[in-house]
Amino acid sequence: MRSRGSPTGWWTTYFDDVMGKALFTPASWERAEKNADKVIALLGLSKGDRVLDLACGNGRYTVALAARGVEAIGLDLALPYLAEGRDRAAERGASAAFVRGDMRALPFRGAFDAALCVYTSFGYFPEDRDHVRVLREVAGALKPGGRFLLDVMSREWVVRHFQAHDWSEVDGGHLLESRTLKLEEGRIENALLYLKGGQQREYHHSVRVFTPMELRRMAQEAGFAEVEILADLDRTPWTVDSPRTAVLATKGAPG
Ligand SMILES: C[S@@+](CC[C@H](N)C(=O)[O-])C[C@H]1O[C@@H](n2cnc3c(N)ncnc32)[C@H](O)[C@@H]1O
Repeated sequence: MRSRGSPTGWWTTYFDDVMGKALFTPASWERAEKNADKVIALLGLSKGDRVLDLACGNGRYTVALAARGVEAIGLDLALPYLAEGRDRAAERGASAAFVRGDMRALPFRGAFDAALCVYTSFGYFPEDRDHVRVLREVAGALKPGGRFLLDVMSREWVVRHFQAHDWSEVDGGHLLESRTLKLEEGRIENALLYLKGGQQREYHHSVRVFTPMELRRMAQEAGFAEVEILADLDRTPWTVDSPRTAVLATKGAPG
């Protein structure tokens, strides 16, 4: 039996070929394509503007945004996902760039008109000071007035609709999930088992689930001047029944 990931640093090994197939399904690519115009509107992007897709995975949004004339750069830790993003961009004739990096130390300063981090790619670190650090890095990478879109699960929704066990079919195998809600830590833990043709792989992940107030405070602490909490990319007001929480944060102008 192989073990993938540990309670600390799980994100460095978790995102492999199986998880790529589980997460980046054809339907999820179509969803990103449908959402791309909404992202452009929310972020106030025009053709030629530069956008950073933080934790871009295999580039669902990076490619869709680049195909619309935005200069899109995807950053992620997982090299195979970045390679797939490059191939997808080339197939589409979209000029996107893909860079390997850790969201806690971005190699950019004042370089982007906007940034996004979507599909619950935030909240992995054991300590919230690292989440604030990521937000500070994003603020640093933006130009004055630049906007940042963050999209995560809603803690309230997770609590009210918590499902301890789940399963799905992935690439001809079965992915079994066993979740634990650790409310005192504000986290959801998941032990996963992938079974295919007599082989098995184990995974574990632990993701912070934030209240809107926590997200607002962290974005403010990181230096964002304005922070809006939304339910979705249509600017629907957030309520306790919203499955997702979107944060639209704007970096202030100097002075
Ligand atoms: C759920 S996937 C989302 C991918 C993408 N945002 C999308 O919408 O398709 C999360 C991604 O975060 C990346 N990731 C995890 N920790 C990271 C870190 N510290 N720095 C950069 N990327 C990271 C993973 O490699 C993975 O591709």
